[in-house]
Amino acid sequence: MNYLITGVAGFIGSHLAERLLSNGHSVIGIDSFDGFYAKAIKENNLSAAKSHQSFTLYECDIENYQDVLKVAKDGGIDGIIHLAAKAGVRPSIIDPIGYQNVNVGGTQNMLEIARHCGIQKFIYGSSSSVYGINPNCPWQESDHVLQPISPYASSKVSGELLGHVYAELFGIQFLALRFFTVYGPRQRPDLAIHKFVAKMIKGEVIPVYGDGSTARDYTYVDDIISGIVAALKYSASLYEVFNLGNQRTVQLSQLISVIEEVVGKEPIIDRQGQQPGDVKITNADITKARKLLGYEPNTKIEYGILQFKLWYLEMMKQGLV
Ligand SMILES: NC(=O)c1ccc[n+]([C@@H]2O[C@H](COP(=O)([O-])OP(=O)(O)OC[C@H]3O[C@@H](n4cnc5c(N)ncnc54)[C@H](O)[C@@H]3O)[C@@H](O)[C@H]2O)c1
Repeated sequence: MNYLITGVAGFIGSHLAERLLSNGHSVIGIDSFDGFYAKAIKENNLSAAKSHQSFTLYECDIENYQDVLKVAKDGGIDGIIHLAAKAGVRPSIIDPIGYQNVNVGGTQNMLEIARHCGIQKFIYGSSSSVYGINPNCPWQESDHVLQPISPYASSKVSGELLGHVYAELFGIQFLALRFFTVYGPRQRPDLAIHKFVAKMIKGEVIPVYGDGSTARDYTYVDDIISGIVAALKYSASLYEVFNLGNQRTVQLSQLISVIEEVVGKEPIIDRQGQQPGDVKITNADITKARKLLGYEPNTKIEYGILQFKLWYLEMMKQGLV
């Protein structure tokens, strides 16, 4: 098969490209190399994929419909995995217009491209943040998601709604995968595990928001990639939403202890207040993904954090972080 991945140079996109290429597929990758973090890191993310002859990279922006159309028009694409986005809850509060333009406008563009290029399959990288302040943990796909508490979360809800329109009107299969705090090698530098490991290795002060009782359903990137690959094979219905989480939560204080163990250094903690936009807990009910996709996350947090540390040390050696 021939797949188009948007956001291919990012954390999740680059892992997905490698998995699809090693499964024998061709990959067309699109990325604008936005300035959220260093271009050199994103280029490094793609080093394995680039050595593959079935991989083609286009540096272009999903906000520019004509540019992406040119790439997709003659590509003979069997499916789009749309991961390009402005990610992160806190920065979206500073730049809500930018988030709306890329995450909603860009998703609209990609759906139009699917429609005009006759691409029948669209996988959408959604987020656990769509559940907002939903008190019914663990969260199920059937829960309503109209209480988001950040511009990022609302942009992801909007993407899911747009997808429903294209499934209904044009018969494009749209699968929204709600990722729950993904971690592992190449994780974005704004996310907690990346920040904590980096600061602990360097002996720097770690700002910790809240009293340590907030909890996250951390999901290892290989498990997420297996979920995406399973979704690519799923054909039983036109529109579905799936939670891709781990179904286990880890409290912030526990997370810091695991990182301390893996890094082998004592953390220097600077306690700060709770951040606006952050929810107390994220917790996925993955019954549906288990049943329909055969999704079975099995990575232990200690192993995943060790893999991240090894990657981070390699990036330090190369002078990239
Ligand atoms: N990492 C997580 O924990 C997590 C959780 C939930 C949802 N998600 C979603 O998964 C997707 C991938 O996230 P990630 O963590 O790999 O982020 P990332 O920032 O590492 O990757 C996103 C990529 O998209 C690219 N991009 C941004 N704007 C673009 C544009 N206008 N045109 C083309 N490319 C553009 C960036 O350059 C980047 O390489 C995002 O949609 C994100 O919202 C991630």
